[in-house]
Amino acid sequence: MNPPPDIRPLPLCHLDDLSDPGSKGFVVQGRQLFAVRQGPQVFVYENRCPHRGIPLEWVADQFLDSSGKLIQCASHGALFLPESGECVAGPCSGTSLTAIPSHIEAGQVWLS
Ligand code: FES
Repeated sequence: MNPPPDIRPLPLCHLDDLSDPGSKGFVVQGRQLFAVRQGPQVFVYENRCPHRGIPLEWVADQFLDSSGKLIQCASHGALFLPESGECVAGPCSGTSLTAIPSHIEAGQVWLS
């Protein structure tokens, strides 16, 4: 019988590591992820644009548009809502980023 999978939460970063608004890329267990902070909330997604399946950023840790309110893919400009990952403009409109469950506890962002 196989042991149960490790489902303990993983620490991602400290909330203070993210500017507000801000974003940061991570590699966790070989997966490229990024986190976006909007005030007291943090959203984590797989760093993979649904348009071409490539990473969203050209400059390290820059996943937001100039307003700081939308996630932007650097390749063809798709825009995504930080809170849901839904693409609201661009070539993959109507699709979504892949959300990674996360939570904040004691000032630390955890992958749930
Ligand atoms: S690869 Fe992201 S919009 Fe084309």
